[in-house]
Amino acid sequence: MSALLCFVAGAFFLYVIVYYSVFRGASCSSSVTLKGKTVIVTGSNTGIGKATALLLAKRGARLILACRNKEKAEAAAFDIRRESGNNQVVVMQLDLASFKSVHSFAETFLKTEPRLDILINNAGLMGPGHTEDGFGMVFGVNHLGHFLLTNLLLERLQQCGPSRVVTVAALLHRFGNIDFSLLASKKDLVSGQSAWHNFQAYCNSKLCNVLFTRELANRLEGTSVTCYCLHPGVIYTELCRSVSLWQQLLMMPFAKLFFLDPEGGSQTTLYCALQEGIEPFSGRYFSNCALQEVGAKGRDDALARKLWEVSERLTSFP
Ligand SMILES: NC(=O)c1ccc[n+]([C@@H]2O[C@H](COP(=O)([O-])OP(=O)(O)OC[C@H]3O[C@@H](n4cnc5c(N)ncnc54)[C@H](OP(=O)(O)O)[C@@H]3O)[C@@H](O)[C@H]2O)c1
Repeated sequence: MSALLCFVAGAFFLYVIVYYSVFRGASCSSSVTLKGKTVIVTGSNTGIGKATALLLAKRGARLILACRNKEKAEAAAFDIRRESGNNQVVVMQLDLASFKSVHSFAETFLKTEPRLDILINNAGLMGPGHTEDGFGMVFGVNHLGHFLLTNLLLERLQQCGPSRVVTVAALLHRFGNIDFSLLASKKDLVSGQSAWHNFQAYCNSKLCNVLFTRELANRLEGTSVTCYCLHPGVIYTELCRSVSLWQQLLMMPFAKLFFLDPEGGSQTTLYCALQEGIEPFSGRYFSNCALQEVGAKGRDDALARKLWEVSERLTSFP
């Protein structure tokens, strides 16, 4: 009996140590309020994006939920209005897997909204498929869609400066790779659609997020727009919905025990969107509400410039 008690106490102690030293995230302590400011959050009908939108709505922002599924987005907007007491929560349809939809979103937004203070490129996925324009789904949505969206909205951000672009990347960018010849022949950064290819495609797309932010900062130097990317932590969300059922079941106990909830996962995004004084770190990468170093490829300015130029050609922008 006492051995069992010792084992349970030991296991609990170990859990607390691992949870607090590895998984538990920091909180954004900024007290900035957002009355009169407009924020776009892509992919804000669920997960980290929805939690981010709610916390920004609580600070008084006018929130644009940029989501692909109008019904899910309206349900999220309803929850956010109710929980925040802020009625300035608007849904606008945006499918990042379609350049046409990105253009149409930007056109509607620019016509109807006079301000843009913070753009949060949060939407993301890990899974198979192709975009409407024939690109690998993960590369197309996680990188190209956000690349085009940001560029279409940049002038408005500049008019409303000081303003910010925040892109949710991931620690997995460290395993990313960019093969431009594969991209030219396959319209993708991976050569197949297996589970392994999907995982590699995700890492590659997150490296693109890091390089995009770096090059954007270079191009915005001297303007009133700054940009940041981040790792949100490991969060229990719907991100792995395309992973097989048995893999999800296998992961669930571990996820329940260790992963952060979406509110915890939104803290570094909030930090990058709100924290005063981080402007000198435009283009850099944050994790746990603090500046962090990126992997070697994420610091490669020539690679960042090339990715930007190729992305311009692929999206026909400008
Ligand atoms: N969860 C983690 O541990 C973790 C770790 C590192 C980085 N991240 C990053 O955090 C971000 C948010 O992910 P999450 O964990 O909150 O995942 P999630 O719960 O699956 O939410 C992803 C959001 O992206 C949207 N989305 C997907 N494809 C889209 C498209 N074509 N157009 C517009 N929106 C689209 C989804 O919309 P639907 O609901 O309509 O599909 C959903 O709103 C992603 O960029 C992800 O890579 C997450």
